[in-house]
Amino acid sequence: MPDYLKWAQAMRRPFAAGPPTNGPRYHAPMPLEIGRTLIDRQRIRARVGEMGRALASDLRAELQREGQDAEHHPDRIVMLPVLTGAVVFVADLIREMPMRLSMRVVSVSSYPGASTQSKGAMLRGALPTDLAGRHVVVVDDILDTGQTLGLLRDLILEQKPASLRICVLLTKLVPRKVEVSADYSGFDIPDEFVVGYGLDYDGFYRNHPDIVVLEPR
Ligand code: IMP
Ligand code: MG
Repeated sequence: MPDYLKWAQAMRRPFAAGPPTNGPRYHAPMPLEIGRTLIDRQRIRARVGEMGRALASDLRAELQREGQDAEHHPDRIVMLPVLTGAVVFVADLIREMPMRLSMRVVSVSSYPGASTQSKGAMLRGALPTDLAGRHVVVVDDILDTGQTLGLLRDLILEQKPASLRICVLLTKLVPRKVEVSADYSGFDIPDEFVVGYGLDYDGFYRNHPDIVVLEPR
């Protein structure tokens, strides 16, 4: 574990052990702050454009094989962003995909609260039940341990979609706990905890326009 994460965890211990608090949700002082920029907004924008065009062209090819028209098919293409981290990414991605498509959402939590360590993936609420026979594109912010996307992939495949694609903005270069590979990935990043462009720490920083590293204060 990187030193700054050990340090962050040590900082949290007294708060976690303290008495329960009433009223508004209690936030320990943020032990981390925004550090260097890993990927700035111009690079994100350029790469998301490329990814959208690649996806659209692959999906058009699927439709063509089915004899469907990309603008008039009956709900063949379903984008499935993983809440909440993928919201910023998917919003930009779909606007680079000039074709008929629809969206569902799925909610998975893996970093509950103020933690930078994966605690495994948990489906929160229901998975859409109408994926059978459709071309499904799961969109997530980052592929880390693989638990989130591994879980979703297995559950979605049970519904027998016509095809399943996994699209992530970031792939962390770490060993996976669950073997998953993304069909589309924007950037490979080192094993650092990043926020911005949808990625959060304890629910915050999602609105930062760049992808930045959290560092000790
Ligand atoms: P996995 O299940 O470990 O692959 O983790 C995937 C989820 O963990 C992502 O959807 C993110 O929400 C979260 N996550 C993993 N790494 C980071 C990070 O560096 N910053 C913020 N969130 C992260
Ligand atoms: Mg997430």
